[in-house]
Amino acid sequence: MKKEYSDNLEKKIDELKKKRNAVILAHNYQLPEVQDVADFRGDSLELSRMAAKTDAKVLVFCGVHFMAETASILCPQKLVIMPDLFAGCPMANMITADQLKKLKKEHPKAVVVGYVNTSAEVKAELDICCTSTNAVAVVNAIIKDSAEGAKEEIIFVPDKYLADYVSKQTGRKLISWNGFCPTHVKILPEDIKREKKFHPKAKVMVHPECLPQVVALADAVLSTSKMCQFARETEAKEIIVGTEVGLIHRLKEDNPTKEFYPATERAVCPNMKRTTQEKILWALEELKEEVRVPDEIRSRARIAIDKMLEII
Ligand code: 13P
Ligand code: SF4
Repeated sequence: MKKEYSDNLEKKIDELKKKRNAVILAHNYQLPEVQDVADFRGDSLELSRMAAKTDAKVLVFCGVHFMAETASILCPQKLVIMPDLFAGCPMANMITADQLKKLKKEHPKAVVVGYVNTSAEVKAELDICCTSTNAVAVVNAIIKDSAEGAKEEIIFVPDKYLADYVSKQTGRKLISWNGFCPTHVKILPEDIKREKKFHPKAKVMVHPECLPQVVALADAVLSTSKMCQFARETEAKEIIVGTEVGLIHRLKEDNPTKEFYPATERAVCPNMKRTTQEKILWALEELKEEVRVPDEIRSRARIAIDKMLEII
């Protein structure tokens, strides 16, 4: 009965999607029912690229608010809608444009790098944006390209744990902010140690938003889509997954012969779970809720995103 209902809903979404010339973009943490109706799923970088590439007129963004804003910055001519406008990212809300302006005043010569998990207003204050896929490459590129080279100060906001990881990988001291992901900090070193005890042959992959003590225990530190790639390519048959649990749906689908163990079931991002098939159908029917970044902010934020896209 439930399955029939879902088939019916999926059929309606599909029909309406075609009628509206829309595509559904879903982040890797979305509910399985959302991933199942998506035209494309990916990490923050891939979703940005896909938004910029598609010919569709409407982008139904199933993720969190900053991701839909990034799509609007890249494609102002397209209608970007979110099935649930209240799906925000608490980490992105941990820094405002005014706070960043103040930090910039304290370090007037610093190059300002910002994680994509920031509002459009904050992106408008950046020199360059980055995602978890390319943060290390972005910081390395600054060091290489800059006339000041190794002397250059670098501000890195808002995630202090991603900053710590990038700093260790690049050998650079970064001026970081006190932001963090409330979901990833729920993954504790004890969780990894316990799972390793239960599954001694398993490889451990974790997201760079995790605590440094967790990162230190991992075989690989990766963005969500790089985790998908690692899972496909590794010879290991069992993998412990240190990120939001939603990724496991895709990992299992892509690798039916492998076993995936969440480091902890506590790692759930409630905002990523706000989007449902019903809300997607409603969004397509009403063409709401629109996410549009005002032109003045958009043009400045775009420079930081384009600079990142040039690097990787
Ligand atoms: P990814 O870009 O790795 O998918 O990460 C986005 C995010 O919000 C992680 O919490
Ligand atoms: Fe933001 Fe963390 Fe949720 Fe990602 S998992 S959207 S960083 S709160």
